[in-house]
Amino acid sequence: MSTYPHTRLRRTRQADWSRRLVRENTLSRDDLIWTIVLSDGPAKRTPVPSMPGVDRVNLDEIVSEAKRAHNLGIPAIALFPHINPKYKDAKASEALNVTGLVPEAVRAVKAAVPEIGIIVDVALDPYTDHGHDGLMEGETIINDHTVELLAESAIILADAGADIVAPSDMMDGRVGVIRDALETANHTDVMIMSYAAKYASGFYGPYRDAIGTAAALKGDKRTYQMDPANSHEALREVEQDILEGSDMVMVKPGMPYLDIIRRIKNEFALPTYAFQVSGEYAMMMAAVQNGWLDEQRIILESLMGFKRAGCDGVLTYFAPKAATWLQD
Ligand code: PBG
Repeated sequence: MSTYPHTRLRRTRQADWSRRLVRENTLSRDDLIWTIVLSDGPAKRTPVPSMPGVDRVNLDEIVSEAKRAHNLGIPAIALFPHINPKYKDAKASEALNVTGLVPEAVRAVKAAVPEIGIIVDVALDPYTDHGHDGLMEGETIINDHTVELLAESAIILADAGADIVAPSDMMDGRVGVIRDALETANHTDVMIMSYAAKYASGFYGPYRDAIGTAAALKGDKRTYQMDPANSHEALREVEQDILEGSDMVMVKPGMPYLDIIRRIKNEFALPTYAFQVSGEYAMMMAAVQNGWLDEQRIILESLMGFKRAGCDGVLTYFAPKAATWLQD
């Protein structure tokens, strides 16, 4: 091994062509999953105040958005519902409505844009009047009963045509129960992307505004989402999910947890994704809007960071912008 002056690491950085030759990671449209918030009702688009540039879209508009995503070369979209409060209750009944907002959106997109992958969140929090991801008995989130409900909801979504179901609840054992239910229902090809390491994070704030659960949520989610201080535990979560039948795993939030992504990729080498969540979007856009940061540079740099950390792709609200910049 030689040292300076025989070694000068700046040599390979001197020109664009040589930087391209030594580049270790690439970012392309293939890495993007576009996260989209759905709403019911006649308004085609409703802006989310804390997420400048993000609108909730209704059933007509989701079809145009899916076409746009496909034309931009985005491989898949991920759908999240804003549910009218009048349909929310303690049992999350609306999660089992076969003609609910999400199943209808999945059917519409599938019919109009069959080429695009459709990912759906399997979660109860949009549907519960208390805003939690599980059913409650008093102050306690009931694991096993919640898991049964999640499996039923996953089957409804798979029946509608979802290609990937993504349980985001962090209940124990849910992946296995959902996988069994999918097998029994003959949905043997439906993939599971588990939110394997999902942290109890402050970065979900704007999302809870976007889907209208912020006002409803009583307490916090620390009895089921992971402690931000933990890292070994994330590997145990991922190991469980793989054993239970996950095809891919996700880490969430994204930027504060790049170390977790790297550990998972090194340990398990399975398809691994990050969710660049609403709070990450909001803080970046706030700085951009103030003229403090350059929009294109920081968005593409943040996405490259995920690739470098070991991600196979990123769920992001920036997907259509990034895909436009990555056209050629
Ligand atoms: C809950 C869910 C959350 C997000 C996706 N699914 C938030 C939460 O746990 O409260 C967050 C998405 C984002 O912040 O962009 N099932």
